[in-house]
Amino acid sequence: MGMIELFAKIQYNKPMEQYDLFSPQFKANPFPTYAQMRREAPVHGHVAPDGRIIWYITRYEDVAAVLKDPRFIKTPPHSQRSDPGSHRAINENMLFADPPDHTRLRALVNQAFTPRRVEALAPRIQTITDELLDTAVLQPEIDLIADLGLPLPVQVICELLGIPRRDREQVSDWSQAIISPGSRGLNYSARKRKVRQFVAYLRDIFADRQAKPQDDLTTALVQAEEAGDRLTESELSSMVALLLVTGHETTVNLIGNGALALLQHPDQLALLRADPSLWDSAIEELLRYDGPVETSTSRWAGEDIAFKGHLLRKGDLVRVVLASANRDTAVFTNPDQLDITRPDNKHLAFGLGIHYCLGAPLARLEGKIALGTLFTRFPHLHLARPAEQLTWHSGVLFRGLKQLPVCTNQSDCL
Ligand code: HEM
Repeated sequence: MGMIELFAKIQYNKPMEQYDLFSPQFKANPFPTYAQMRREAPVHGHVAPDGRIIWYITRYEDVAAVLKDPRFIKTPPHSQRSDPGSHRAINENMLFADPPDHTRLRALVNQAFTPRRVEALAPRIQTITDELLDTAVLQPEIDLIADLGLPLPVQVICELLGIPRRDREQVSDWSQAIISPGSRGLNYSARKRKVRQFVAYLRDIFADRQAKPQDDLTTALVQAEEAGDRLTESELSSMVALLLVTGHETTVNLIGNGALALLQHPDQLALLRADPSLWDSAIEELLRYDGPVETSTSRWAGEDIAFKGHLLRKGDLVRVVLASANRDTAVFTNPDQLDITRPDNKHLAFGLGIHYCLGAPLARLEGKIALGTLFTRFPHLHLARPAEQLTWHSGVLFRGLKQLPVCTNQSDCL
């Protein structure tokens, strides 16, 4: 059948509104809804709060296919990048780029973000974890998000990049303004001002490292060269901004969601305590069961695409739901069950294809040290409130708790 006849037979899906993917109830437990979406259709159109239609893809096989398919691209085909200037200085990163730009940017950072550099961080990650817990334990209850999950990866990425300690709070404020300006009450111009300050700050750091190279990732990025090619200044600032942003929003949720899942499954925790060599497979299972990134970042159909009997038109916005793929019965046995000994765990929590998470080895190491130390150090750790009272951040990109209060003693801490 020719392409024209094929498209003639395909009906263009009308967006469906029966799922409220943005309500707090949905966020509290999105998995039954995703299971229903997987059963019903391969593609679901949904009108986002800003009026755009987003096509959600929820089945494992389809999610994997989209992530590997070069027809789904990261730059909108009818370019909407009409915001030159300071925003370009944080948006020219690999996650928003297609080949050949993506290939070049990733190759340049790969030289700097080496396994050796990541492995060498283990003792520092352990020390930071111990220090954070030493401080946290002085309070009657610990918030695993504010006291451990967030500060640990932020400190690690700042140290890796060589951001001086005195600047970290300010850098953190800028990073948060970039990620979620809405939740911080920032309007467009306030955000733009912060972005401009951030970019000016980074420019000074780059100039400093050029003049006085140090043993940090920023120096490595400034010096990185691939076949005579270097990062431009806006690519450099975009790269550092991307690493800082991912440092703020992802690993925190591995620690938060992972701790919650283990606290709710004492049998699995008992297995881990009896045999700490299970931590590696436990981290993979926690990533699958309730991973930090709920949907991928946006992709656009670069051309008209016949997708499982549905027509996605050129320019359509598509999101694959990693959290749904990771609970698909077609791939995982008893997917709603947490099983830290699960064999052959092919979860998609870090994505797939050319944009597969660059920071995966670091995130795994941080998660293992943080959760391993937490549960070893506090054998009586328990939730300070019933799980139903916990609240989740809104938005479909990340999946994470606002707070996770726990107690370390045998009795209740309230
Ligand atoms: C458990 C924690 C983390 C999870 C679950 C996670 C997940 C992901 C996912 C799903 C993607 C692909 C997104 C897409 O294709 O739309 C991604 C990309 C990326 N991640 Fe992570 N991430 C984590 C931690 C980190 C950390 C700590 C860093 C850096 C220090 C990092 C750096 C990156 C970068 C640079 C990309 C873009 C790669 C590319 O476009 O080629 N991530 N991550």
